[in-house]
Amino acid sequence: MLTVAIVAVAASPMAAAAEPPRQFNEPADMNRYVADLISRMTLQEKIGQLNLLSSSWDITGPTLREGYQEDVKAGNVGAIFNAHTAAYTRSLQKLAVEETRLGIPLLFGYDVIHGYKTLFPISLGEAASWDLAAIENAARVAAVEASAAGVHWTFAPMVDIARDPRWGRISEGAGEDPYFGSEVARARVKGFQGDDLAAVDTVIATAKHYTAYGQAQAGRDYHTTDMSLRELWDTYLPPFRAASEAGVATYMTAFNELNGVPATASRYLLHDILKTRWRFHGFIVSDYTSVNELVPHGFARNEKHAAELAINAGLDMDMQGASFLSSLAPLVKEGRVSIDRIDDAVRRILEMKYRLGLFADPYRYSDEDREAAAIYNTEHLEAARDMARKSIVLLKNERDLLPLGNGASSLAVIGPLADSEADMIGSWSAAGERKDRPVTLLEGIKARVGDTVSVHYEKGASYRLGDTDRSGFDAALAAAGRADVIIAAMGESAEMSGEAASRTSLGLPGAQQELLEELRKLGKPIVLVLMNGRPLSVGWADENVHAILETWFAGTEGGHAIADVLFGDYNPSGKLPVTFPRNVGQVPIYYNMKNTGRPYGVGGEAEQKYRSRYLDTPNTPLYPFGYGLSYTEFAYSDMTLDRKAMGEGDRITVTVRVSNAGEADGEEVVQLYTRDLVGSVTRPVRELKGFEKIFLKKGESRQVAFELTPEDLAFHRQDMSYGAEAGAFRVFAGGNSVDLLEASFRLTEDVALSDAPAAPDREERQ
Ligand code: NOJ
Repeated sequence: MLTVAIVAVAASPMAAAAEPPRQFNEPADMNRYVADLISRMTLQEKIGQLNLLSSSWDITGPTLREGYQEDVKAGNVGAIFNAHTAAYTRSLQKLAVEETRLGIPLLFGYDVIHGYKTLFPISLGEAASWDLAAIENAARVAAVEASAAGVHWTFAPMVDIARDPRWGRISEGAGEDPYFGSEVARARVKGFQGDDLAAVDTVIATAKHYTAYGQAQAGRDYHTTDMSLRELWDTYLPPFRAASEAGVATYMTAFNELNGVPATASRYLLHDILKTRWRFHGFIVSDYTSVNELVPHGFARNEKHAAELAINAGLDMDMQGASFLSSLAPLVKEGRVSIDRIDDAVRRILEMKYRLGLFADPYRYSDEDREAAAIYNTEHLEAARDMARKSIVLLKNERDLLPLGNGASSLAVIGPLADSEADMIGSWSAAGERKDRPVTLLEGIKARVGDTVSVHYEKGASYRLGDTDRSGFDAALAAAGRADVIIAAMGESAEMSGEAASRTSLGLPGAQQELLEELRKLGKPIVLVLMNGRPLSVGWADENVHAILETWFAGTEGGHAIADVLFGDYNPSGKLPVTFPRNVGQVPIYYNMKNTGRPYGVGGEAEQKYRSRYLDTPNTPLYPFGYGLSYTEFAYSDMTLDRKAMGEGDRITVTVRVSNAGEADGEEVVQLYTRDLVGSVTRPVRELKGFEKIFLKKGESRQVAFELTPEDLAFHRQDMSYGAEAGAFRVFAGGNSVDLLEASFRLTEDVALSDAPAAPDREERQ
């Protein structure tokens, strides 16, 4: 048990009255301490704890309320976000501790999504590594840096399943698959929170945006979501559930409505599922002004009504909208909100402060020495470079153009992203420096080749939407003309993904496509280095350039990491966590689709007319889920099952041999999928059930084993009960969701599972 020094809070009258906690993580002590504190709080002080305001240091949405420092002193604030650095958080904490009657410390939150100062690749990029230990470590590093700078609470991980690349926030999650998304959610929560919230280098995490935000209609941010409850439970909720199992401390509601009820005021989502069924003991925060937004949603008559609906649905903290602050006191007096509900919300928030150790020492996270030692330390930068290399996906490599060997004596590095520091760190880059620190691709290449290769750089074109200026083309083509190999760094600006960054086209924006086509006319080998926060439709490039690397936005050390892959110092091992469509018309396209009653390709030529297909594009994606090449070849063989049937309590071991049949050592992500052939409701054509990333030396081979249990085959059946159904199954193993070995087994009996969620008994407003 961790014992901490007790800091006297001299100016606080409460400090004299209450006994400060000597130890934390002792539930009985915590309960007593928090209950005692609540018993001495006025209604207004309680409501203050439910209010989260932004400092002016960073702006992550519209500002409705100025003067946050005055609010802190008035006891109107329980938490502040967008404030960081040890010095600044300390100064704000002082206001709360020394100038309010009870001296209750503030909680400091921040969007530490893929790093604090040392930036890792954007979250979707990290996910492409399929390396859970590295993903957990990236969150760990972020927590170590942020916690030293006074941050207690990160608004991450985003665990929204996203299947629509038009939606810019696809960049913030782990992609399209519920199983994979759940594994990544667990890893990230564990990385941020560690094993002990009381440890000074951990932060509390937030599973967001609860829920179904990723299915915004037409990919337009904040838009309506409407889906069956089965889809909700089987596809969108699993990562949120996984986060809860991993002990996530907080949830953030989503901006969207779900089936007519805005998530922020959905009693079904907040009270019934999260707090009752999942027994979630932490607190729930709104996303920004989503309480106030119940009014334009057409769900609340005015802000007071919005506050009433949200708190009664189970929301505990109001971010930035201050509607709780202005409305809860009258609502309690009018009997529309119970004091018990207020006390419950306050208790949840105070408990978190207690568990972080803030009552014992409100300043323990604001530590200048630790901050100086943690930020950009060598270990963190190395971890960021390693994670970035692991996240890169090799999409094409014709005639083994990559890795670039010693043949090329001159390179042309062309494109608007080739030397852009700010873009390299991607959106939601928190306190990351946009200048000087990020290593660009050009810098990475120069550092790698030194004087041995001449490097000609030209920006060539803009990536701005609608900017068709060709004035840089001539210089770019001249530079390319002098080189043996052209490296084209193209894609999107960092701001084109993330929040409020939806697109209706998925091509290369600006004049980049045109420039690429001009470069192609030179007849030289081209490597397209993509930087983007969403799947792009790069069909022309796939047909016309020789090699394509998907590098996402690779973070502070991005340029070095990409150079490591280009020159073969690291053999690429990333796999796509999301499907890349051929064109935007195929969206939504994801690997675990249903078969339909008229699957295309089944039957003879004449039968294809009335099959499920397009007239102008194949059904297949440009690059499927789980896909990614390597500088070596992996061969799959000898798939075996230790038994052909299982019942309740049994398990089947599926084994497959994976061989490195190429010329380089490398890593492979071995993937396991199943298909339930007949169900009381139709089942997807493939469902990911397991994966393992393995390293094989060239010539080496290894048996990889996966275990399948009836629990792995469960879904929400026709009556919405949860369980697996007896019948025939196929099981598949391979290196992506399409090229797979296959075998069969039977589940001999229905298996009902206890975690059966009921259909909502009450989804309407209270
Ligand atoms: C709005 C975003 O949706 C959310 O993800 C973020 O955490 C908050 N703003 C705070 O910046």
